[in-house]
Amino acid sequence: MIYSKLLGTGSYLPEQIITNDDLAQRIETSDEWIRSRTGICQRHVRAAGQTTSDLALEASRRALEAAGLRPDQLDLIVVATTTPDMAFPSTACLLQAKLGANTGAPAFDVQAVCTGFLYALSVADQFIRSGSARQVLVVGAETFTHLLDWNDRNTCVLFGDGAGAVVLGASSTPGLLGTRLHADGRYAGLLSAPGSMSGGQVLGKPTVQMDGGAVFKFAVKVLDQVSREILTEHGLTPAAVDCFIPHQANIRIIEATAHKLGIPSERVVRTVSEHGNTSAASVPLALDHAWRTGQFKTGQLGLLVAVGGGFTWGAGLLQV
Ligand code: ACO
Repeated sequence: MIYSKLLGTGSYLPEQIITNDDLAQRIETSDEWIRSRTGICQRHVRAAGQTTSDLALEASRRALEAAGLRPDQLDLIVVATTTPDMAFPSTACLLQAKLGANTGAPAFDVQAVCTGFLYALSVADQFIRSGSARQVLVVGAETFTHLLDWNDRNTCVLFGDGAGAVVLGASSTPGLLGTRLHADGRYAGLLSAPGSMSGGQVLGKPTVQMDGGAVFKFAVKVLDQVSREILTEHGLTPAAVDCFIPHQANIRIIEATAHKLGIPSERVVRTVSEHGNTSAASVPLALDHAWRTGQFKTGQLGLLVAVGGGFTWGAGLLQV
């Protein structure tokens, strides 16, 4: 039996920070409102000209360094992003060239918005389990702020830019115990950036549209469901989870989910206050934070969960 083992993690946040007070100077909001409803204190925003593949590059270099591998030792690159540098080539191909990774090896993007990293992890795991790849770079990277209308206080306070990456390697011991993925396209209208390009023109609204209350309720429901599904599948209960690594959208969603599952507060990774919702980058950013701070360590079991536009949602169980 072949498993995917976590060999290294890395992350990157752009230097520029926008605080809640900065936003309150531009729009009708306040630090108190944002903090109490979301737990967010600040978000990182890309510099002019900085693209998703630039953010991915920094996170990938750090993950490769942690794994002790060179870019030319990679068999596959999978990038989860909703905000690719361009329509094509894929961000993964651009990243391959920037990293100086193994040319000729496959590289492609997956798009599942905030669940993107779990989708990418699952795809990478199938490649490793089937013997098609031995060393895989999996990245979640977003410049989500370019999808924002900075005058829409309902959405612009929530998001930020960032990237996280992991290197997975084939191993005879677990590893990633498994993943569970879901999608339900009937809920597409609750959260979307519905604009499209045609003949060089943007058609429709290209910025984020959201029914915040409905998203909140849906998120708490499915994060609880998918966590129980994957734990049950592996004969486990929430008590077995040493480290809960959820998508970082809103501290209230994270805490409500952990409470429903009965996972104690000290086992929950929280990074949302520092960078807001970074979409597909959020889970690998939280994973890297937990790993580097020692909140998640060798011998432990991690539960990764995410939910996002689509709707999409998923979970992964990671033994390290
Ligand atoms: N500052 C001040 N007031 C605001 C702001 C703001 N930034 N944004 C909205 N408001 C106002 C609204 O206009 C509304 O005013 P009204 O009642 O006069 O119409 C009021 O605040 C709404 O307040 P609440 O109902 O108390 O807001 P709520 O507690 O529902 O919080 C929030 C709103 C934060 C959007 C919440 O619903 C939420 O977090 N939902 C989840 C959304 C999310 O996480 N999306 C991310 C993408 S999805 C994902 O990653 C899972």
